Amino acid sequence: MIKAKPFVKWAGGKRQVLDKLKKYIPEEFNTYYEPFVGGGALLFELSPNNAVINDSNQELMNVFNVLCNDKKYTKMCKYLNKFEREHSEEFYYKVRDIDRNKRKYNRLNECKKAARTIYLNKACFNGLYRVNSKGEFNVPFGKKSKVNTYDGENLLNVHSYLTNNNITILSVDFEEAVMNAKEGDFVYFDPPYDSDTNTFNSYTETGFNKDEQRRLAKVFKYLDSKKVKVMLSNHNTILINELYKDYNIYIIEAKRNINSNGKKRGNVEEVIITNY
Ligand SMILES: C[S@@+](CC[C@H](N)C(=O)[O-])C[C@H]1O[C@@H](n2cnc3c(N)ncnc32)[C@H](O)[C@@H]1O
Repeated sequence: MIKAKPFVKWAGGKRQVLDKLKKYIPEEFNTYYEPFVGGGALLFELSPNNAVINDSNQELMNVFNVLCNDKKYTKMCKYLNKFEREHSEEFYYKVRDIDRNKRKYNRLNECKKAARTIYLNKACFNGLYRVNSKGEFNVPFGKKSKVNTYDGENLLNVHSYLTNNNITILSVDFEEAVMNAKEGDFVYFDPPYDSDTNTFNSYTETGFNKDEQRRLAKVFKYLDSKKVKVMLSNHNTILINELYKDYNIYIIEAKRNINSNGKKRGNVEEVIITNY
């Protein structure tokens, strides 16, 4: 079967560095855990039979859940077709701003919510996901006159992969998501990036600051003590080098492609850290 690919554009998505990441994957493992799954580039590339996937972004994980169910998946595609037909700047803001009215928003069924998430991702500026302090999606219109919300063949591959394998879908904090990982399992952490300067890392209302990076390093260490195989990617920063100095640190070149300031796009150094 043809491998599925991410169905959303996601900040920090790993499609460009997949070949580099794959070199560091353990040869054998039992259950695959991806607690910051985002668009799921590595998940789909590896397509493991047993996996636990998680992201604190509930909108995104709702899409994964909908894709796991035949009827819901079909219903979501119908909404997407309708959204494509109705697409315009005015329509974009109408769909985007549904979350300004919590009662109206909560009344949406999960398939329509999932279609809204995909549509906004494709129609917004640069595929960003950003919410304000009230949790309202606030990315402006992407100025596309036509929008393709999905590739039918790929979405079917995603649906088949998720339904024909043993995939647990969670939307909790990363620490809770890996609580049951055991010896021989493989955890891949791809957290929001650390930075030595002040760049984009506000994926959620709360963001992911240096204390969160420190908390993650403790979880890494704990899993290491349980003989879980752990891999982590991040920017090559002072803090990351300090936190993981007891493990293998490999430097790779990556292209930064989500930055509102076009001039700042370019190559950045990333690290891959493993405990094996
Ligand atoms: C760098 S992105 C992951 C990109 C992903 N590997 C891909 O290929 O698309 C980091 C993800 O972490 C999620 N996140 C942020 N804080 C989190 C937390 N405390 N627990 C779980 N997920 C979190 C964000 O919603 C975001 O999707």
